[in-house]
Amino acid sequence: MEHTTTTSVQEGRDVLAASGKQIDQWMANSIDWSHFPPHLTEAARYSVLGGGKRLRPALVIQCCNAVGGDTDAALASAAALEFVHCFSLVHDDLPALDNDELRRGQPTLHVHAGEAMAILAGDLMLAMAFGFLADAPCEPTVRTLLVGELARGTSDMVAGQVYDTLGGLPEGLTPIDQVRLVHLNKTGALIKAACRMGAMCGGADAESLDSVTRYGDAMGLMFQVVDDLLDITQSAQHVGKATGKDAANGKRTYPGVLGEAACRDEVARLRTEAVMAVSNLGDAADPLVGLANLMAIRTQ
Ligand code: IPE
Ligand code: IPE
Ligand code: MG
Ligand code: MG
Ligand code: MG
Repeated sequence: MEHTTTTSVQEGRDVLAASGKQIDQWMANSIDWSHFPPHLTEAARYSVLGGGKRLRPALVIQCCNAVGGDTDAALASAAALEFVHCFSLVHDDLPALDNDELRRGQPTLHVHAGEAMAILAGDLMLAMAFGFLADAPCEPTVRTLLVGELARGTSDMVAGQVYDTLGGLPEGLTPIDQVRLVHLNKTGALIKAACRMGAMCGGADAESLDSVTRYGDAMGLMFQVVDDLLDITQSAQHVGKATGKDAANGKRTYPGVLGEAACRDEVARLRTEAVMAVSNLGDAADPLVGLANLMAIRTQ
C-alpha cells in the first residue's frame, strides 16, 4: 500500500475515534434525561452504547465540516442517524428477520431483554431520532430538509429490508441489478442520508450537496459489498456478529452473484468513485477520503 493511502486510512481511523467520542456522550445523555421506565432505558442504552464503528455519525460530522460547517451544527443529526441505524440492527436481528444472537460482540437485544422489549426499544429509537431533529440548532427550513432526508433514508432502508427478507423486487432485473437494488436501499440509503444531512447542516450549496450525495451513494453500496465479503471471510469472534449465514439463508449477496475476486474489484471501483466525487471539495474532504479508504479495507 502506498504511504499516502496508509496515512489516509489512519486518518479514517482517527476520524471514527474522535466522532465516536463526541457522539457517545450526546447519545447517553439523550437516553438518561428522558425518564423512561428503567428497563426501557436499560434496553436503549444496551443497544445504542454497546459499541459499533459509529460510521454514520462520522459521515454526518465530516460532510458538515467538508462544506465549511461546524461540528456542533451536526451533532443532533449525527445522533439521529446512529439511533435509526441501531433501531435497524435490533429489528434486523429479530427471529422474524435474520434471527441472530450476537451483535457487536454481545447477545442481541432480543436475547438480552426479550423480543417484546427489542421491538419496543427499536420503536423508541426511531421516534427519538426524529425528536433530535426537532431540536436541531439550525434554521427551520434546514430542519424541514433534515426531517425529510431522514424519513426518506429510513423508508428506503425498510424497503431494502423487505426486498432482503420477503422479496418483491421489480420484475426483469438481472441478478446483479437485483442485489444492487437491495444493497442501495437496505444499507446505502442511511449512509447517503448521513452524508446529505451533514452537508445540509453545514449550509452546502447545490454543487457541494451533489458531490456529497455521489460520495454517499458509492460509500453506501461499497459498505454492504464489504459486509457481504466479511460474512464469507471472517469469524464471528472477529466481527462480533454471526458470519457464514448469508448463503445458508438464501440472501442475495455480491459474492454470491459476482464471486469473491470480482467483488473486491467492485469495492476498489466504488472506493475510487467515492473519493473522486468529493475531489472538488479540496483538503476539507481529506477525512472523507480517509473514511472511504478505511471502509474499503475494513475487516470488522
Ligand atoms: C452493520 O452496520 C449493518 C449493515 C448495514 C451492514 P455496521 O457495520 O456499521 O455496524 P456497527 O454500527 O459498526 O455495529
Ligand atoms: C443489514 O444487513 C441491513 C440493515 C438495515 C440492518 P445485514 O443483515 O447484512 O447486516 P448484518 O450482517 O446483520 O450486520
Ligand atoms: Mg439482514
Ligand atoms: Mg443481519
Ligand atoms: Mg451482513
